Amino acid sequence: MSKIIGIIAGSLRKESFSKKLAKAIVAMAPEGFDFKIISLADLPVYNQDFDDHNEVPPAYTTFRKEVKELGGFIFITPEYNRSVPAVLKNALDVGSRPYGKSVWDGKPGAIFSNSPGAVGGFGANHHLRQSLVFLNIPVMQQPEVYLAKVNELFNESGTIKEGPTKDFIKKAVDAYIAWFNQNEK
Ligand code: FNR
Repeated sequence: MSKIIGIIAGSLRKESFSKKLAKAIVAMAPEGFDFKIISLADLPVYNQDFDDHNEVPPAYTTFRKEVKELGGFIFITPEYNRSVPAVLKNALDVGSRPYGKSVWDGKPGAIFSNSPGAVGGFGANHHLRQSLVFLNIPVMQQPEVYLAKVNELFNESGTIKEGPTKDFIKKAVDAYIAWFNQNEK
């Protein structure tokens, strides 16, 4: 049976570069793996009262169940104000509760940050890393993935252009698979 890896992009924008990257990465899944895009579009902002008073939104239940079935994750994060966009941090928070029932625990992850700017989302990458350490997601160390000038990476149809950046992303995906195989829960 294929192992399922969640591809989680931290943007809701229709023309999001992170979402385009997610699609491109799905096509890079090696044999024996199924890369599945996990949508964050329906998740209300986390409120602990929902869990404490048994008023859990159906979207939380669906998301937690979906993530529970995954073996690992590739997080594709844009950078908002040198940090992680709220929609991605919110998804981490939703999946981490109720206390003791985190759906992230122990599953191998990787972070691919991106930006139209020159720094490639470095700030978001490392803020995200901090949360993943707490969530006990072993995060791939190398290669580090900071994708700069991401706005130049796609054709008009939204598909990824052939070239060195695509080749690097494929290498990073392969490195993640090796990381996954070493650290699988
Ligand atoms: C940005 N952007 C941005 N870019 C960057 O490199 N560093 C940053 O700190 C920020 N900050 C920031 C804050 C907010 C509120 C917005 C809306 C945008 C620009 C950002 O990289 C750009 O909009 C990307 O296209 C967002 O990613 P998606 O939606 O294309 O995946």
